[in-house]
Amino acid sequence: MLKERFVWEVLAEKEKLLEGEVRICGWVHRIRDLGRVKFAIIRDRSGSIQVTAKKGESPDTVLETIESLRQESVVCVDGVLKKAPTREGVEVKATKITVINTPVEPLPLEVEGSEKASLPTRLRYRWLDLRNPKITAVFELEAFVARVFREYYTSQGFVEIFTPKIVAAGTESGAEVFPVLYFDKTAFLAQSPQFYKQFAVIAGLERVFEIGPVFRAEPHHTSRHLNEYHSLDIELGFIESFHDVMDYVEGFIRSLAGRVEEEPARRALETYSAEPPRLPASGIPRIPIAEAYEILREKYGKEVEEGEDLDSEGERLMGQYAREELDSDFVFIIEYPWKVRPFYTMRMESNPELTYSFDLLYRGLEIVTGGQREHRYHQLVSNLKDKGLEPEGFQFYLDFFKHGAPPHGGAGMGLERIVMQTLGLDNIREARMLPRDTERITP
Ligand code: 4AD
Repeated sequence: MLKERFVWEVLAEKEKLLEGEVRICGWVHRIRDLGRVKFAIIRDRSGSIQVTAKKGESPDTVLETIESLRQESVVCVDGVLKKAPTREGVEVKATKITVINTPVEPLPLEVEGSEKASLPTRLRYRWLDLRNPKITAVFELEAFVARVFREYYTSQGFVEIFTPKIVAAGTESGAEVFPVLYFDKTAFLAQSPQFYKQFAVIAGLERVFEIGPVFRAEPHHTSRHLNEYHSLDIELGFIESFHDVMDYVEGFIRSLAGRVEEEPARRALETYSAEPPRLPASGIPRIPIAEAYEILREKYGKEVEEGEDLDSEGERLMGQYAREELDSDFVFIIEYPWKVRPFYTMRMESNPELTYSFDLLYRGLEIVTGGQREHRYHQLVSNLKDKGLEPEGFQFYLDFFKHGAPPHGGAGMGLERIVMQTLGLDNIREARMLPRDTERITP
């Protein structure tokens, strides 16, 4: 039996396949009926190809089938690959067309040029929007980023873990949790694998990573927040300082930037006319937040109160600074105030109002948060109290630290934000196949 092939496979091997039989399955992109000659453009994930039938040369059934086709019908075409004056230089002269399914309603969204429709319409009819190869390219890049992440950390001796998403407590102060009814108890959807990646390090796995969904019940209406996103997490033991964690984050970023010429990343960047990520050979700059306040004040006239976090404008300006002054799309901001970091963060020995923590900004948007964790039991209890939290509520977590916890640290990276910044998308919803936000739980 003839094997179904992706359009790109046929095009890549066209010299070899010429005058041979091929089978293409996909959707009817367009139909052109010139009477004696009939054309159908068949599209699959990887591209499109012209299918032709000629009166007198092609079977009558094929000509009749092309006449009856509707846009977005699902078909399989068997035919002979021929040279043709098309953009691809070839076409399929059909010998058989099987119609597998036909739309039952007029199309609410045209696949071609769907990116020009409004975002709510695109998300409402996402299954049509995604048939546009320009949109599919976003998710091929997303898969690529996740693959590079997995490959890089695996090569560095990290073990992939799969932690519970139904949990007993929130981990990230400030971010809200979604409650779930769990038999006769209230549980929560995990905001982060934070506690359990630390658990895995303490439990002896030493270096771990996870790619998984996280849930944030924040009523945000911004272009950079989702209520469900994918977090790329790492955690490692026996660090000497939080700089070791940054080194591993940078290693991944460097690996990713070094591989954007590979498919499908190359195609995605080309489709969006996006520049490859730029980072200096000398390393991603690491700027203490105290210095960032000064840069913002002196260079951009922006005041941020000492001890406060950077807002989105502050991040954007620091991104601009990194690009213009340091020739880098990335910049680490380090040593955040204790006040704005979660209780598990290690406070600086020389100044307990600051922490051994960092954010990584990519083209002016935070894509990574990380730092060293407090691994000393009594200090951890004191950190909880200092944040006004009841240690009893976190006892299951505190217990991990009772029987030998190595110094450790880690980071969490937002997958959709990495994709969004790489392609220059305007809204993070574009980087999520089916975004969950305050308005959407369907489709
Ligand atoms: O800054 P966050 O909340 O940090 C944590 O989850 C820590 N447990 C990480 C750690 O290991 N210390 O989230 C980490 C990253 C952010 O830098 C951002 O890229 C992304 O996750 N992120 C979001 N992405 C989309 N929508 C949201 N609502 C996001 N909140 C955070």
